[in-house]
Amino acid sequence: MVYFGWTPEYSVKIAELDDQHKKLLEMMNKAYEQARNDPSPAEVSRLLHELNEYAIAHFSKEEKYMLQTEYKDYEDHKGQHEYFYDQIARFKTKLGEGDREIYAEIADFLKSWFLKHILTNDQKYSGHFIDAGIG
Ligand SMILES: [Fe+2]
Ligand SMILES: [Fe+2]
Repeated sequence: MVYFGWTPEYSVKIAELDDQHKKLLEMMNKAYEQARNDPSPAEVSRLLHELNEYAIAHFSKEEKYMLQTEYKDYEDHKGQHEYFYDQIARFKTKLGEGDREIYAEIADFLKSWFLKHILTNDQKYSGHFIDAGIG
């Protein structure tokens, strides 16, 4: 079952970044699917770790393009990426304590953060990046 799927309105019109967003979405769906099968906290933590590694690579790419093109919302945008890392770290701590109650919160956070971020903040850089010749 797909928790939430890709739709064209998510597109930032830059294939490389869209592909990364699709991959992140796929990993978030996997986390959701996994949570439905009563996994161990260690299994959830492993998946979150993978997701975080991929997110670091993707966010760093966006931030690199922002610096390169002197994007004015760089600090704010970077702050949102950092908030994501902080939340994942918090979830991993809870999972390390054996907390199973947190699965639903993790799934909700991933979905709401991703949708809000991609539909508002990532959309905002789209025209700027394209004008600067990225993509
Ligand atoms: Fe972003
Ligand atoms: Fe993004």
